[in-house]
Amino acid sequence: MKIFIDTGDTTEIKEANDWGLIDGVTTNPSLAAKAGKNFKQLITEITQIVDGPISAEVVSLTADEMYKEGKELASWHKNIVVKVPLIPEGLKAVKRFTAEGIKTNVTLCFNANQALLAAKAGASYISPFVGRLDDISQDGLQLIRDIRLIYDNYGFDTEILTASARGPYHFMEAAKIGSDVITAPFSVIKQVIKHPLTDSGLKQFLEDWKKVANL
Ligand code: G3P
Repeated sequence: MKIFIDTGDTTEIKEANDWGLIDGVTTNPSLAAKAGKNFKQLITEITQIVDGPISAEVVSLTADEMYKEGKELASWHKNIVVKVPLIPEGLKAVKRFTAEGIKTNVTLCFNANQALLAAKAGASYISPFVGRLDDISQDGLQLIRDIRLIYDNYGFDTEILTASARGPYHFMEAAKIGSDVITAPFSVIKQVIKHPLTDSGLKQFLEDWKKVANL
């Protein structure tokens, strides 16, 4: 499973990238607003840190405007993936981007029918939001299972990009289901690495070593 970091914070991206585990980056308008930088400057800085797919989202609502905006975003760097909302106008734009070889990430997916339609339109990635479904007492991970089944049934090559990940459980289950990618905030990636027995075990090893290091 590929791991993307879901943030607009370049300090976090650098740190996680140095750990050698980041395959790509996702951003959204809320994360970009949090970063508080000019969007082109932000995306350009990210392209200089990570050599992998970097999702940049359009904010227009008609296919024509999304197309224009997405073409501009895609012109910034070869790794840009144009992120498009899962609405009819968005799918129309995806079809045009796909015909021109521009990669797309269809976002705000909350059911498997939507994911099926995005794949039919030619999306490179589909972003189902597991955490936001859990927030309203639905089973976010069941959506990942359903999409995996449907995509495998029909041989769609759209990659499932599990988004809105809230913790290590989402991470592990997405991998078990066969999600192609997970995107997670840096806070979640840090939780995934940690285990209390790793920390206490290391502490014990180092304390024991002190007893014999100078023999
Ligand atoms: O970037 C899309 C998605 O990962 C957002 O997650 O935590 O705002 O639901 P969240």
